[in-house]
Amino acid sequence: MSGSSTYSLPATAAPKLEAMVDQIIARPGRMINTKEMEQMPGQLDVKAVINALPEAITEEDFVKMLRLAMLTECGTDSYAAVFQEGADKYNATWLARFNEKVWVPDEYTHTLPYYMMLRTIGFTEEELDRQIRELQERVYTHCCGITPVELTTFGTVQEYLTDNWHGLLANLLRPAAPEAAYFANMVKRRETLHTVWYRGMTALQVEENPELIELVAKSLSTFQMPGTQLVPDCGPLALTWMQKLHVDFNHVAKELVRNFSESAGDMKRSGKLIVEMAVAREYPIGPFPSRFVRGAMNRLGGAGYGLLGEAILERVGLPKPAKWIGKPDSAIRFHTGVYETIRSRMRTFISNKIDVRSITGETAA
Ligand SMILES: [Fe+2]
Ligand SMILES: [Fe+2]
Repeated sequence: MSGSSTYSLPATAAPKLEAMVDQIIARPGRMINTKEMEQMPGQLDVKAVINALPEAITEEDFVKMLRLAMLTECGTDSYAAVFQEGADKYNATWLARFNEKVWVPDEYTHTLPYYMMLRTIGFTEEELDRQIRELQERVYTHCCGITPVELTTFGTVQEYLTDNWHGLLANLLRPAAPEAAYFANMVKRRETLHTVWYRGMTALQVEENPELIELVAKSLSTFQMPGTQLVPDCGPLALTWMQKLHVDFNHVAKELVRNFSESAGDMKRSGKLIVEMAVAREYPIGPFPSRFVRGAMNRLGGAGYGLLGEAILERVGLPKPAKWIGKPDSAIRFHTGVYETIRSRMRTFISNKIDVRSITGETAA
């Protein structure tokens, strides 16, 4: 890990990635039917929610939360252009096809539910259209690199956090507007699928070229939700609303780590990912500066990364994925009895010293 990793894949990778996208195109799951929704505007009436909001959330907060959901979804063309640029530059036709044939048409259906909800609480079409136009005219600066693996890593986190946001809104809407909650939940389910797809694409690229883990770490370290930039009067407040609604941040951290680990593909690469992210964020690992840990690990030929990978899973309370047990990189293949007892104590010792922000950033801290 030299900090100078560039994007390259062996010739075996492209057919696998193309096949993965072929499968997604063949089975994209059930998309949202906007025509059906337009015929039943009453279902998206959220007026009653205003009088049933939790104490910590004001009407103004609620309106902004809905606007954040709607406007973030309206930025699809801006995000799609960045993905297209990366796909063209690195000749990743699989990514271009996914973007164009599945992701963009799917995302286009996510605006309408919130548009219709906002219409029921006093917003005119002219006003909403004006806000959408304003957002689409704003210049979007992408937070991360545009190699395909950085893009799919960005996609994994962005989709996961968006999934979370629609879930939060569905919970907020459910008591007084269960039908509106149902539609928010439909959007959430699409974002879940997107997360899984991007995670799979990341894992496949890393599997083909393990050096790419460095670019994954780089992308995760500079990640920023586009809403923070594109919807400046709402995006930066998202974390406060999450706190007010008692979002379980440990759970968010756990799910982010689960996604990172799945992307890394095995315990050793998971450990490497953590070290690279800690270096990029300048968080110490235990009592040591992360650069020092990276130097020491690399001088030892990478021994210890697997243990660190296990330690971060333990830190957030995740079990070791069953499919990793018995893999060459898995630390527990031959480790039984006394050896495993010592090892597990070391793992717990390291785990207790890991600052979870080194991997999740402030979002889930
Ligand atoms: Fe979306
Ligand atoms: Fe999405």
